[in-house]
Amino acid sequence: MDFNKFIVIDFDSTFTKVEALDLLADIIYDGQPEKESIKKQITEITNQAMEGHLSFRQALEKRIALLKPNKKHLEQLAVRLKYQVSESFKRNREFFHKYADNIYVISNGFHIFIDPVVMEFGIKPENILANRFFFDDQGNVTGFDTSNPLSDNHGKVEQLKRLNLPGDIYVIGDGYTDYEIKAAGLANKFFAFTENVERNAIMEKADHITPSFDEFLYLNKLNTAISYPKNRIHVLLLENIHPVAAQILRADGFTVETLPTALTEEELCERIRNVSVLGIRSKTQITERVLQHANRLMVIGAFCIGTNQIDLKAATRKGVAVFNAPYSNTRSVVEMAVAEMIVLMRKLFDKSNKMHRGIWDKSAEGSYEVRGKRLGIVGYGSIGSQLSVLAEALGMKVYYYDIEEKLALGNATKCKSLKELLELSDIVSLHVDGRESNTHLIGEREFSWMRNGVILLNLSRGHIVDIHALKKAIETGKVAGCAIDVFPYEPVNNNEEFISELRGLPNTILTPHIGGSTREAQENIGQFVPARIQDYINTGSTSSSVNFPNLALPTLENAHRLIHIHENVPGILARINQVLASHNINIVGQYLKTNEQIGYVITDIDKEYNKEVIRELRGIEHTIKFRVLY
Ligand code: NAI
Repeated sequence: MDFNKFIVIDFDSTFTKVEALDLLADIIYDGQPEKESIKKQITEITNQAMEGHLSFRQALEKRIALLKPNKKHLEQLAVRLKYQVSESFKRNREFFHKYADNIYVISNGFHIFIDPVVMEFGIKPENILANRFFFDDQGNVTGFDTSNPLSDNHGKVEQLKRLNLPGDIYVIGDGYTDYEIKAAGLANKFFAFTENVERNAIMEKADHITPSFDEFLYLNKLNTAISYPKNRIHVLLLENIHPVAAQILRADGFTVETLPTALTEEELCERIRNVSVLGIRSKTQITERVLQHANRLMVIGAFCIGTNQIDLKAATRKGVAVFNAPYSNTRSVVEMAVAEMIVLMRKLFDKSNKMHRGIWDKSAEGSYEVRGKRLGIVGYGSIGSQLSVLAEALGMKVYYYDIEEKLALGNATKCKSLKELLELSDIVSLHVDGRESNTHLIGEREFSWMRNGVILLNLSRGHIVDIHALKKAIETGKVAGCAIDVFPYEPVNNNEEFISELRGLPNTILTPHIGGSTREAQENIGQFVPARIQDYINTGSTSSSVNFPNLALPTLENAHRLIHIHENVPGILARINQVLASHNINIVGQYLKTNEQIGYVITDIDKEYNKEVIRELRGIEHTIKFRVLY
């Protein structure tokens, strides 16, 4: 291997995510009450050594005396540690095999649990620098090799000195003993590894901070497993998006910043410059002007249902994919509809309001069970069909009408027309989508088709019901009760007064568009959108994107993926393939989809190719964005 650098890697909290002795305490004291106190004592001893009150060797002796490990525990430890290898090391397994001659693992820990873990990565036994335990006949640890420099202070420095490696030495670690190697003049560079722990004092001393092994490889132009370290991809999440989203994206290696509020256009123009992934909810306006400043932006996650706040055409022109979470709050809407049907059938709100005014109105007049009643669902999509299931569980007879062919769930009955459904339903619940043509789907004529004393629910969109006609229907008694969550005009914030003809009407539940507003829905959204963002960045998949042609792609294996986004003009695919053909490139798979604005072409190719091809593909006229994934 023509490579004259040596990479020296620390084990605890670097190669693995954990400190081995902590895990050993967990194993030895598993299920025993003194476990926490033992772990605390171990930490205290470690701190005393770090502060210089104990020598490293004294501290080690004390910790071993506390733990009293035997061979069996240590073998278990090795097995557990194999599952705790840092994610970015796992990703780059191939690298370790390829550069095995040049990689050393160094630790003040012990061969018995380190060797089995790192040798699986092709690291040579002679390149593992650690200490050895001594055992008695029963396998109990009786001590360790005190002649090994790694059993004492400055052990790593001493060990490296003895090795006398002929070339540049790069040390990667999370602790002071790793930095010491560089401080002693034995390493050319020290990389503070922060994937598992971040120690400010160490980060300040480092030549580079590497949040992952990918970053280390990228800095040294050694990356083969992935095209670009994810820690270099900046994610900005605004508007108090559920914390699970940041958690998911951080765990995948992205650098994530969160803000509790929305930003103004001005602020956003400034902040968006180095952002690759932007997460918003409904208050942040993504205008063409904002997008003009967004030169690194690849994807916008709308952590909500609607995407009206985004200039989708401008985003598409810029090659920015947009994802939302259309179905994450389905269950929340359905539960509210179920509750409201029962509340309205029993006139509970009016009764409760009277009680607040001191009126005791005990009677069964106009109160009904929902069991056995006919529920008519208009729009049998995600929400309508789930309501169908829950309503049947309550003993209701479910009818539905949809303009598209929808299979009945359970015992629900399909109606041929809206009229048929309205004529037979005791309760009508609207769950159609917000398309323009659904404006006033329910108006004077439709009310006339309904049964006298019908209950109406609208938790879909505000323009679906003619509010004036509804008011009249309530006043005439045609409608005995209604629950309305969405309105033709809705206040833009909580300070604006809600104005509506429906205020003050009997048995009328008015709610401020909260059908989908639950903690659970927020959490679902917080999980759903990051998964789409990860898919898009990691594989190029655009499934369920709002503005990009939807392509579900196979995972990439043993190939490089070229992702080409271009204006939808004829001949681009041919141009791409001409370039590939002129370089004799073997195409493993190719996928193309277009929409009105753009074309999205994915080409998987063999890993070995002339990098000139990338420059040529980037240069094709009408290219909006191009990236290579591996
Ligand atoms: P969906 O798209 O899964 O289902 C809508 C269904 O309505 C489709 O099957 C469609 O074919 C059907 N449809 C459209 N026009 C129709 C018509 N004129 N007659 C009969 N069927 C028609 O949508 P999903 O997720 O079930 O949502 C339903 C509605 O609920 C949407 O308007 C959505 O905006 C709204 N919603 C309201 C929330 C709230 O907070 N109140 C929260 C979530 C959704």
